Amino acid sequence: MGARVIINDVGPRDGLQNQPQVLTPAERIRLVKALLAAGVDHVEVAAFVSPKAVPAMAGAAEVVSGLQGEPGEFSVLIPNMKGYELARDAGAATVGMVLYGTDAMAEANVRMSRQQADDATEAILERASEDGIRVAATISVAFECPFDGPVDPAVVHASANRFLERGVDLFVVADTIGAANPRQVGRMMQRMVDEHGADRLGCHFHDTRAMGLANVYAAVEAGVRRFDASIGGLGGCPFAPGASGNVATEDVVMMVEQMGYDTGIDLSGLLEAASLAKQLTGTAPGGRATAWLKRHYGAAAHA
Ligand code: COA
Ligand code: ZN
Repeated sequence: MGARVIINDVGPRDGLQNQPQVLTPAERIRLVKALLAAGVDHVEVAAFVSPKAVPAMAGAAEVVSGLQGEPGEFSVLIPNMKGYELARDAGAATVGMVLYGTDAMAEANVRMSRQQADDATEAILERASEDGIRVAATISVAFECPFDGPVDPAVVHASANRFLERGVDLFVVADTIGAANPRQVGRMMQRMVDEHGADRLGCHFHDTRAMGLANVYAAVEAGVRRFDASIGGLGGCPFAPGASGNVATEDVVMMVEQMGYDTGIDLSGLLEAASLAKQLTGTAPGGRATAWLKRHYGAAAHA
């Protein structure tokens, strides 16, 4: 068996937040369970954000409590301390706070400056360590911002240094609008892995310019062993113009497994989860390799 690569499916959050079809908590739980059945053991299941800002994420507490006892590491996105408290009260074990490469993106997403988001994350880290809750920090628009353009890598490295030192359980570099190229990704992640080791690093890519999978490859080669991906390629951020879906989980699993890594995920089960995502939303585009995968991996071929 090859070295392990962890796949964190963010479809039920990053994917569903931007679909015209708003799913009920019960439908979202069904999608998470289909992922679990395929062997996906890390899932971002909900966001404790203002339901006025993101109507599709309403009912987050119901999703979290509906998954209690299911085998898997579930995380939830939070934008601020209020989100933290709601997530904690709902029984979330891991919260994901968002950091920003630029002030403009922070303002558009949560009406904060970068500094305010950093400070909120530090306050949450303190509370979470008292409460025994794990914290992941994702730096949004780590390469390019839809409002302010290219982001200086020094900003991202400084953020990684600060938050890894402060004890985040995970630091994720996110190409929110899918603008990065593999060379940039390779450089950034190689330096981060050299400085911090790969254990607490992850990457999050969108496929807007068809470079999602190439960027995953570049990060794998740099030593990163944990990736966000979205079932059926669902996704797009409502506050980042031009962002399309995340790199599809089925494509990432296929690629890293063919490269000799072990994800613990069954591609046939994953295709069933992708079919369910499509059936529920009407919009999941599916992975780029879907036609080939369907021919090669059994049951879901007819779904
Ligand atoms: N969860 C639920 N409700 C929240 C909340 C949270 N985490 N944080 C604030 N609110 C509520 C407030 O209680 C208030 O409710 P009220 O109008 O009934 O009094 C309302 O939202 C506005 O609060 P305020 O502090 O003034 O926030 P805001 O209007 O500046 O909006 C956010 C800021 C963060 C609440 C909002 O922009 C948001 O939820 N953004 C999330 C964006 C997102 O999910 N992006 C995609 C993922 S990266
Ligand atoms: Zn995203």
